[in-house]
Amino acid sequence: MVCAASLASATTLWLVLGAGRLVVAESAAANFASHLEPFGDAQTLGRLLGTAQNTSAQVGATPTWPEYTVPAEPGGPYLFQPESTWTSAFLPQALYALDKRYSVLCPNDRAGSNGTDWRALARTWSASLYNPNQAVLDSWLHDVGFNSVPMMAELEIDASNATARSALLSNAEALAKLYSPTVGCTLSWDRGPDNFEVIIDNMMNLRLLLAAADLTGNATYRAMAESHANKTIENHIRADGSSFHVVDYSPTTGEVQWRGTAQGYSNSSTWSRGQAWGILGFAHMYNATGISLYLETASRMAIYFSTAYDRYQTEVPWDFDAPLPTTLDTSAAMIAGSAMLFLSSLEASRGNATGMSHWTAEAEVMLVNSASAGMRNNAGEFSIIGNATVDNRADPPINNTGAIYGDAYFIEAGNFLLELGIWNCSAGSSPFGSSAVGASPVALSSKLVTLSNATTAVGQALGANGTTTSVSAQGSPEKTHAATSSSNHLAPRDALTLALAFCGACVTLCLQ
Ligand SMILES: *[C@@H]1O[C@H](CO)[C@@H](O)[C@H](O)[C@H]1NC(C)=O
Ligand SMILES: *[C@@H]1O[C@H](CO)[C@@H](O)[C@H](O)[C@H]1NC(C)=O
Ligand SMILES: *[C@@H]1O[C@H](CO)[C@@H](O)[C@H](O)[C@H]1NC(C)=O
Ligand SMILES: *[C@@H]1O[C@H](CO)[C@@H](O)[C@H](O)[C@H]1NC(C)=O
Ligand SMILES: *[C@@H]1O[C@H](CO)[C@@H](O)[C@H](O)[C@H]1NC(C)=O
Ligand SMILES: *[C@@H]1O[C@H](CO)[C@@H](O)[C@H](O)[C@H]1NC(C)=O
Ligand SMILES: *[C@@H]1O[C@H](CO)[C@@H](O)[C@H](O)[C@H]1NC(C)=O
Ligand SMILES: *[C@@H]1O[C@H](CO)[C@@H](O)[C@H](O)[C@H]1NC(C)=O
Ligand SMILES: *[C@@H]1O[C@H](CO)[C@@H](O)[C@H](O)[C@H]1NC(C)=O
Ligand SMILES: *[C@@H]1O[C@H](CO)[C@@H](O)[C@H](O)[C@H]1NC(C)=O
Ligand SMILES: *[C@@H]1O[C@H](CO)[C@@H](O)[C@H](O)[C@H]1NC(C)=O
Ligand SMILES: *[C@@H]1O[C@H](CO)[C@@H](O)[C@H](O)[C@H]1NC(C)=O
Repeated sequence: MVCAASLASATTLWLVLGAGRLVVAESAAANFASHLEPFGDAQTLGRLLGTAQNTSAQVGATPTWPEYTVPAEPGGPYLFQPESTWTSAFLPQALYALDKRYSVLCPNDRAGSNGTDWRALARTWSASLYNPNQAVLDSWLHDVGFNSVPMMAELEIDASNATARSALLSNAEALAKLYSPTVGCTLSWDRGPDNFEVIIDNMMNLRLLLAAADLTGNATYRAMAESHANKTIENHIRADGSSFHVVDYSPTTGEVQWRGTAQGYSNSSTWSRGQAWGILGFAHMYNATGISLYLETASRMAIYFSTAYDRYQTEVPWDFDAPLPTTLDTSAAMIAGSAMLFLSSLEASRGNATGMSHWTAEAEVMLVNSASAGMRNNAGEFSIIGNATVDNRADPPINNTGAIYGDAYFIEAGNFLLELGIWNCSAGSSPFGSSAVGASPVALSSKLVTLSNATTAVGQALGANGTTTSVSAQGSPEKTHAATSSSNHLAPRDALTLALAFCGACVTLCLQ
C-alpha cells in the first residue's frame, strides 16, 4: 500500500526505443499500463470471439478446431483441423482462461466483454475432446497432456464434475503407458523400435500426470513426471540454459543416441518455442512438487531466453541461432512471457521480492514488444497476434501466421498480469481486495520506480544510453502499430536496468 500510494503520483516516465535510446513520456503509472491495454481490450478479445462463436466447426461427425491462420495473410480466418491435431485444446483453454478472468479475477467486468458467456463457449469447444478413441490417442501421443488442459480447467470450476475427472484420469493413463522405466521418460514421438524420441515440449504434458497423482493419490504418476523432468535436465538442457529440441534414447539401454532438432534451425540450435515450453513446464513442475531444482531449471532456461532475446533487441525469432534477419515467433514470446510471470508469482510466494520484480520486468518488456509487433487490427482478422511461426522446417515453411497457442498464451499472460496486480480490471473493481498491491489503479511502473528515485533513474539511463526526445502519450500498440515500427518497442536491457534499480525496494514494501 505504501508503494501504490507513493507511486500513484509519480510523474516521470520513460519509453525506450528499439535502438536503445531513451524517450521520456507521460506519467509513470500510465505508460506501461497503456501498452498493456490490448491484453484485456474487449475489441481484441472480440477477435477471438469471432472464431469461438463459429460453432459450426463443432457440429457434425467430425468436429474441427482452429490451429493457425493462412500464412502471410493479414490474420484470418483460422484454418480448422480435426481432433487428432495436437492443438485442439488451445481454443477451449483460452476460453476457460477468459471465464476465469470474468468470473474470478474481474467479476465486475463482464460488461467489458459484452456479457459473453465464456464458460459455455469453453464447454462447447471442449465437449468432444472428452472421449478420444484409440486412433486419436495414438496420434496425440504425449500431446494428450495439452489436450487435457480443459479438463483441468473444468475441475477448477467444479471439482466434483465426474465427466471431467474420468476423462482426465483416462488421459493420464494413456500418458503413463508411454513411460519407459528403462529410459525414465514418456515417449514423445514413435519412430519405431530402435528409437525413443523425447522432445522438450513434452515438459508441458507432465502436468497431466501430476493432476492424476493429486486426484487418485497414486504416487506412481508423480514419480514418472519427476523422472521425466530429471532426465530432461540431464539430457536436453545445455550448460548455458538453452535446450535441444529432440533427444533420442535407446529403448533397450536408455542411453542417449542422438540430440538435435526437428523444428529448429539446426541440430545444435535453440528453437525458441521449445525453450518457452521448457520454462513453463519446469515452472509447473516446481509449483506442483516444490522441488527447488525445477525452479532453478525454469529460471536458468528463462535467463537464456531473455539474454538471447536481448541480442535480437525487440522480438523473438523462431530460433535463437537463425541468422538475421529472420522470421519471428510471437507464440514463443507469449508462452515464455506467461512463464516468466508465473516465475514472478512463484518467487513472490517464496518471499523473494527481487526475483518477483526481475521476472515481472523481463516478461513485461517482451510481451509488450511482441504484442505490439504482432497485433493486428484490421477488419476480417481473427487471430489476436500475428507473426507466429508454426513450423519453419515444413515444406513450404509455415511462418508469419496467427497461431492458436500464441493467442491462448496471450490470454494466459493477461490473467497472470491481473493476478500479480500489474494490470487492473478495466471497470476499476479490483479483484484483489483493498489491501493488496493491485488495489490501486496503478500499473507496472508502480512496481518499478518511486517518485524520489525516478529522476536519478532516468538520468542514469540517459547518460549511459543516449539522446532524449519527448513524445506524447502513446496509444496502445494495437492502435498504433500500423503506423509505427520500432517506436513502440522497449529495449529490454535498458528498461530492465531502470526497473531493477528500483524494484526490489518498492516490491518489498508492496509485499509487506
Ligand atoms: C545502455 O546502458 C547500459 C548500462 O550502462 C549498458 O550496459 C548498455 O550497453 C547500454 N545500451 C546501449 C544500446 O548503449
Ligand atoms: C464488444 O462489443 C464491441 C462493440 O460492438 C466490439 O467491438 C467487441 O469486439 C465486442 N467484444 C467482445 C469480447 O464481444
Ligand atoms: C468457421 O468454421 C468453418 C469450419 O466449420 C471454417 O471453414 C470457416 O473458415 C470458419 N469461419 C471463421 C470466420 O472462422
Ligand atoms: C462437466 O464438464 C463437462 C465438460 O466440460 C461439461 O460439459 C458439463 O456440463 C460439466 N458438468 C456439470 C455438471 O457442470
Ligand atoms: C498407479 O498408476 C500406475 C501407472 O498407471 C499403475 O500401473 C498402477 O496400477 C496404479 N496403482 C494403483 C494402486 O492404482
Ligand atoms: C528428481 O530429482 C529430484 C531433485 O534432485 C529428486 O528429489 C527426486 O527424487 C528425483 N525424482 C526421481 C523420480 O528421480
Ligand atoms: C540433424 O541431423 C540429422 C542426422 O544426423 C540430419 O539428417 C538432419 O538433416 C540434421 N538437421 C539439420 C536441421 O541440420
Ligand atoms: C500452482 O499450484 C496451485 C496449488 O496446486 C494451483 O492452485 C495453481 O493453479 C497452480 N498455478 C498454475 C499457474 O498452474
Ligand atoms: C530470487 O530470484 C532471483 C531471480 O530469479 C534469483 O536470482 C535469486 O537467487 C532468488 N533469491 C533467493 C533467495 O532465492
Ligand atoms: C509481421 O507480420 C506482418 C504482416 O504479415 C509482415 O508484414 C511483417 O513482415 C512481419 N514481420 C516480420 C519480421 O516477419
Ligand atoms: C517463411 O516462409 C516462407 C513461405 O513458406 C519462406 O519462403 C521463407 O523462407 C520463410 N522465412 C524464413 C526466414 O525462413
Ligand atoms: C532511492 O532514493 C532514496 C532517497 O534518495 C535513497 O535513500 C535510496 O537508496 C534510493 N533507492 C535506490 C534503490 O536507489
